[in-house]
Formats: sequence, C-alpha cells, structure tokens
Amino acid sequence: MTVAKGIQQQLERSSWIRKMFEEGIRLKAERGAENIFDFTLGNPSEDPPKGVLEAFRRLVEKNAPGSHGYMPNAGFPAVRQKIAGQLRRDTGVEFTGDLVIMTVGCAGAMNAALKAILDPGDEVMVLMPFFPDYQFYISNHGGRMVSAETDKDFSLDVAAIEAKITPKTRVIVLNSPNNPTGAIYSESELRDLEAVLQRADHPIVVLSDEPYKSFVYDGGKAPEIASFISNCIITTSYSKTWALAGERIGYMAISPKLPGAEALSHACTFTNRILGFINAPAIWQLVTAEAPEEFPDLSMYQDKRDLMCDGLAQMGYEVHKPEGAFYVFPKTPIADDVAFVRILQAEGVLAVPGSGFGRAGYIRLSLTVPRDTIVRSMPAFARALAKAK
Ligand SMILES: Cc1ncc(COP(=O)(O)O)c(C=O)c1O
Repeated sequence: MTVAKGIQQQLERSSWIRKMFEEGIRLKAERGAENIFDFTLGNPSEDPPKGVLEAFRRLVEKNAPGSHGYMPNAGFPAVRQKIAGQLRRDTGVEFTGDLVIMTVGCAGAMNAALKAILDPGDEVMVLMPFFPDYQFYISNHGGRMVSAETDKDFSLDVAAIEAKITPKTRVIVLNSPNNPTGAIYSESELRDLEAVLQRADHPIVVLSDEPYKSFVYDGGKAPEIASFISNCIITTSYSKTWALAGERIGYMAISPKLPGAEALSHACTFTNRILGFINAPAIWQLVTAEAPEEFPDLSMYQDKRDLMCDGLAQMGYEVHKPEGAFYVFPKTPIADDVAFVRILQAEGVLAVPGSGFGRAGYIRLSLTVPRDTIVRSMPAFARALAKAK
C-alpha cells in the first residue's frame, strides 16, 4: 500500500462526499440532469462581475513586465497595500500591507496560518457545525481538533468555548457568516469572546474565516471580527464574492494588535512558500487591485433564500432563515439525517447530511443553483417529507 495510513483514514472519513458526488452523477445519467436537483456544492453558478472580467482581460492584454513571474512570496506589495487600505476602512484597525499575504484561496491562507502557528499536539477549536475540511487542515499541521457547541440558533456559546480552553489551545476558528448555518455573530457575542480571550493565561489566536463576508441579507452587515477581537487573523478569498472559486485567489491579514504580528507575517510568508504554493496566482492578484470593488447581487440570493425557506416551512419542514452566506440548514423530519438524504435522493434531490458538519439531524442545501431549480424541486421535497413521516 503506497497511501499513508493517516490519509487512508481521512479518505474513509470523507468518503461520504465522494459517494454522494458519484451517486449524483449516476442519477443524472439515469434520469436526465434536468430531473435531478443538486444542492450539494457551494459553487456560484453566475459569472464573475463584469468589472472583474474586464480588469482580467485588460491585464492580460497589457502584459506588463513581471505580470507572470515570481514576485515576493507574500504577493505584489501594491496589491497588499490596497487590501490593507480596504481593511483599515472596514474594520477601523490599522492593518498595513506588510501584514497582508496573498494566498491560494482561503484554504491556502488557513493552511499557511495553521502551519506557522501549531506545534505537534496544539489544540484548535472549531464550533459545531463547521466546514468539514477544517479537520483536515488542522491535522495537516500536527494540530488536534477540539469542538465546542454553538447555541440552538447557531449563535456563539461563549461559555461553551471558555469551558473547552486548555493550556494547549492555540487557535479558535470562527466563520461568520457561517457555512453551513448562515449565522452571523453579533457584536455583543464577539465582545464576550474577546473578554474570554483577554482573561486566558496564554495568547489564543482567532482565525476568522471570512469568505462569505459580503453575503448578508435583509440590508444587514456582518460585524467585523477584527474590530472586536485583538488576536485576529482574517483569512478570506474572492471565491464566493466574485464567483472565482476555480482561480484560487485569496489572502490573510494579521491584526496589528496581535502580539508578534510582524514575526507571524514573516512565518506565514515562509509557510505559504514551503507548502508548495510559493505565491498566489500573479495575474489574479493584480485583478484584485485593479477591478472595481464589486459585491454580489444579494437580491438574487435573498430571493432564492426566501423561496427555499418559505417553501420548505409551508410544507412542514423546520427551517431557520439564514442571515448570511448562501446555504439553508433545515432540520430533518427524522433524526437520522443520512437516511433522510437517501429518501431525498430517491426523489431526485441531492443534499449534504448535517452529520458531515458535526450536527446530525439537519441537511445543508446550497443556494448557488438557478432559481428555477428551487421552484421545480419543491414537489420532490414534499414527497420526501411524506415518505419520512
Ligand atoms: C467556510 C469555508 N471556508 C473556506 C473555504 C475555502 O474557500 P476557498 O475556495 O477560497 O479556498 C470554503 C469553501 O467552500 C468555505 O465554505
């Protein structure tokens, strides 16, 4: 066997994703793709904003010297400075270009940060339910994942977090707006968390995973984590905001309030390199600085959220309207979410079981599908509910 035992075990733990994917392909071939309603992937189906594509074309056409070669591993200095300026404006915190590192998506940023921070056996806390790949990012760098529950409505349970802090806790991962729940942490929850971190007898870093920051509904705004948490590293990307997930462009930004921020920035630049990323894609770094700061069409997502949530609620599903991100996380009518996902599959609906995110009894439905898919899927959800009862 050439595959390492650890990777073999991780593959088995994540095999449900592959099985679902394969089952989806099989069902589409058998019944026709138009009869299968696939809500599994958080991959925006719309095109990137016009201004972004125009900037990309302009830069390719201009072909300025150095547009395609190596640059400092942390990224083009002018791009990093521009992002630091946007962060100063948004957070009121004095971010500088030196503390911004361009990365291969948000996942690249999280891996570079964890590699720079963790010694073997150090603990990283995640809040349930959580994005499943966190467990693999943490073990990539010798960390041990510890999970804490969130409240019933998926808001922060600061007491539960405090109870799980040990001398080995180095990092707490926050993700607001949240995948899979759509929860957004409030200013008062963040203030309470900051008080806990300040009380701790050793530094604990909050890794604030923010790829959904621009997806907030009902005219709201997500509180900036860096404005409330001193020991904060922002990790984010343009994957969702600009529908650019395949281009792998993101960044991390280290709060200047974090003790040793400069040294950590050097360390993360180095880990970004030795993880094999070297640097983030050159042309897409330039696009992020050149393109107008465009935001997703939230009215389109909000309409799909309402359509899905109201439709399911009217049938009798228990569903909490997400405040942000682009997923709906309804309760399953039976406790066994994997069994219910199978019932849905038989009706042509593909969903992800909540147990994959550490919260059984729920399913995750992605809103990145066309509106029509939601409309046409409603009878299938109703049939599945009837079958489950
Ligand atoms: C919560 C969360 N964090 C990180 C990522 C990774 O983002 P990227 O594709 O920019 O690496 C995703 C992608 O779905 C996500 O949902």
